[in-house]
Amino acid sequence: MNILVATAELAPVAKAGGLADIVQSLVIEWDKLGEKPIVVLPKYQFIDCNFWGFQPTDLVLYVPISHWVEFARLWVGKLPNSNVPVYLVENNDYFGRPGIYGDPNEYGDNDRRFIFFSRAVFETAKALQFKPDIIHSHDYHTAFTMAFLKSQYRFDPLFSQTAGVYTIHNLAYQGIFDPKRAMEFSTFGMKEFYPGSWFEHHGAVNTMKVGIMFADKITTVSPNYANEIRLAYFGEGLHDVLSHRGADLIGILNGVNYAEWSPEIDENLFSTYNINNFNEGKLINKYELLRSFGVPEDDNYELPLVGTVTRLAEQKGIDLLMFCLETHLQNNWFRFVILGSGEKRYEDYFRYLQWKFPTKALVQIGYSNTLAHRIIAGSDYLILPSRYEPCGLTQMYALKYGTVPIARYTGGFVDTVEEYNPEKGTGNGFTFYQYNADDMSYAIKRAFEYYQNEPHWSVIRRNGMMKDFSAERTAQDYLKVFKWALEKIGR
Ligand code: ADP
Ligand code: GLC
Repeated sequence: MNILVATAELAPVAKAGGLADIVQSLVIEWDKLGEKPIVVLPKYQFIDCNFWGFQPTDLVLYVPISHWVEFARLWVGKLPNSNVPVYLVENNDYFGRPGIYGDPNEYGDNDRRFIFFSRAVFETAKALQFKPDIIHSHDYHTAFTMAFLKSQYRFDPLFSQTAGVYTIHNLAYQGIFDPKRAMEFSTFGMKEFYPGSWFEHHGAVNTMKVGIMFADKITTVSPNYANEIRLAYFGEGLHDVLSHRGADLIGILNGVNYAEWSPEIDENLFSTYNINNFNEGKLINKYELLRSFGVPEDDNYELPLVGTVTRLAEQKGIDLLMFCLETHLQNNWFRFVILGSGEKRYEDYFRYLQWKFPTKALVQIGYSNTLAHRIIAGSDYLILPSRYEPCGLTQMYALKYGTVPIARYTGGFVDTVEEYNPEKGTGNGFTFYQYNADDMSYAIKRAFEYYQNEPHWSVIRRNGMMKDFSAERTAQDYLKVFKWALEKIGR
């Protein structure tokens, strides 16, 4: 199958969160399975083309915007460590900026930037004479591709046999825009915007809805989230739209690229380890991590280490941590380590916590792939109190590294974290259901009952390490959905 992937993020080239990881994993797996994926990505200013080996081509794209045409130059390269072609769309007015989505606040013209990009995706395929069987787009940024496929490009021989699959990674970011701008830039015009039209939601253009309505098949990133978002509580105002398309909405659990996330081959770690020596291996990583944060040698290295690596956003349940961390650290219950960046109020809080507990709250505000790996390997527990979580990747990484997740029982955590049962020796983590700090603290308490308490301590961690959430299975599930999408358009 020729699969054209349109995305705003792609690891390791341009990453803000899990979207980048999963797109990378999918195309690598499809390539291994003999499919023909290509990725189209904006050429952001921060992408180091020399380092990643991207070259300019002679191909110039003519991209219709409103009633005029804008230009872009195409760059080409390979996804690192693979054969997958990656095309970068260069237009510095739109993408010659420091951020992907904003810096730090959302850019005011994200409607125009991403409508331009979604249209450029088709012009890229035309310039390359690439005839896609599937256009696979992700989140609101590339949702307009689904509408273009069914209208402006419907009778183009290159796309007349192409099906559209739209993947929701996070329903909370919907791309809600002023119709006068979005309808004009997208060339549909205001005539297509009326109450109840596929572009309209509560009087605005809702880009997420556009993707959902125009796609042949819609997927989201875990089976449980696929069910949750049909309900008002999780549907972010789009539950009716999702229920309307319910027959075409499928949950596919994200997968892990184990070539990058396996403790036995991970070059970021202080020491690699595997399922036979994880007790010692994890201890070395924990102690080195503590040293790297300057914790004095005589400061009780034995204390449980609870870590997290996260965007500092409301979604991630940071408020629950803010509610009780100070008390718990004051009581010397555990040591806490966090790597994260995002909203200022959260960043400020963790800086304060570090100031107050310099050897108990280990805080790194910022982005670091190496430290992310080290925290996931060196922590005893990973805390994941998300308010909602479409899938979540760090809990799957943690399991592979023998780090025990303590997670809110929501979204993809339900599909991946199973409460430990001490009688049966089953399960790989600890969960709590209600979104409140007491329930979270109680889950931490249950988790600590088994800390260094054998045989449980080894059993829980081994159960996690044996779980296989490989991206190969995910990639195969997507191929099934692609076949259904092709059937839907009569192929
Ligand atoms: P989301 O996409 O909602 O942020 P996921 O759990 O799916 O959540 O994916 C997050 C990804 O981003 C993981 O690979 C995680 O390691 C990474 N990540 C998040 N914050 C940071 C950070 N500050 N530094 C390095 N990696 C981070
Ligand atoms: C989103 C979600 C996260 C998911 C990721 C990759 O950012 O918040 O739960 O794992 O996308 O699909």
